[in-house]
Amino acid sequence: MRRITLTRFLIEEQRNRNVIETDLRLLIEVVARACKSISLAVGKGALAGVLGSADVENVQGEVQKKLDVISNEILLEANEWGGHLAAMASEEMEHPYAIPHRYPKGEFLLLFDPLDGSSNIDVNVSIGTIFSVLRCPEGVEQPEEKHFLQAGTEQVCAGYAVYGPTTVLVLTLGRGVHCFTLDRELGSFVLTQRDLSIPADTKEFSINMSNMRHWDAPVRRYVDELLAGKSGPRAKDFNMRWVASMVADVHRILTRGGVFMYPRDAREPSKPGKLRLMYEANPMSFIVEQAGGMATDGHRRILSIGPQSLHERVAVFLGSRHEVDRVTRYHADA
Ligand code: AHG
Ligand code: MN
Ligand code: MN
Repeated sequence: MRRITLTRFLIEEQRNRNVIETDLRLLIEVVARACKSISLAVGKGALAGVLGSADVENVQGEVQKKLDVISNEILLEANEWGGHLAAMASEEMEHPYAIPHRYPKGEFLLLFDPLDGSSNIDVNVSIGTIFSVLRCPEGVEQPEEKHFLQAGTEQVCAGYAVYGPTTVLVLTLGRGVHCFTLDRELGSFVLTQRDLSIPADTKEFSINMSNMRHWDAPVRRYVDELLAGKSGPRAKDFNMRWVASMVADVHRILTRGGVFMYPRDAREPSKPGKLRLMYEANPMSFIVEQAGGMATDGHRRILSIGPQSLHERVAVFLGSRHEVDRVTRYHADA
């Protein structure tokens, strides 16, 4: 079998389809390399003393794990010197990170959730990295938060890595979704699936059921109907999975279909959900749509939302088209 590495894939995309520029290619290679470093740190676990809490809080008021901090630093260090970025933003930093003056600046903005699924780090369950790439508005020399506040439709690239039994990198440049598996001996990502596609129908859903009592009526109605199974209004049995790492739950959906939900709930009525729009919901929605799925906040297409702030939260319903469409209709009916 002829193996296509990420490097070759990107060069051929550029050459044959002219869909990527050299700087974007460099950006993706650098992010992929950072994910390899994170994968290595994750894989060492207790042997390298990387498990447990870092005893500091991030801007979201969450206690950071050591690996949240390490992964954030790996991504910053890998990306600051290449000349391909104008600035970066991260779940773990309140404000955008400016490229140090000693390095040249590029035209892209990179946003990331350096380590997704933090609650799974210490229990040896799959975790990952999510990233999104935007263009820096023309003429902007020192990008600020407001320059990042672009709708998800403006993304030029999005991807995630899952550090599971294997490390995979899933990528979209707006022309389909492709999956690469890390060959640990070679040290490179190898293309293992082209054009991933999410089936429109599914019998599997993904939601943290412990929050049921806090959900809005349309979400309760939808999930109640799934739970009612064969004898209920849906006339079929549904299965449930919840990894509690969005990367792993979304990766399953890209592999065999399903619907993933993190709705708004009444625990913190001021917050429109738990997941963050700019570096969780937007990149994942771009990937899901590119694979033929659908992503809404219950009312609107997630990618069309005009962001108000870097760390804003959003309700998320994504995955198999017919199910996301249904739960979105239930919101409209209410
Ligand atoms: P993060 O670790 O980056 O803060 O994200 C965790 C997110 C997401 O990955 C996952 O789907 C969800 O939080 C899990 O939430 P619950 O613990 O409420 O189930
Ligand atoms: Mn996350
Ligand atoms: Mn995170």
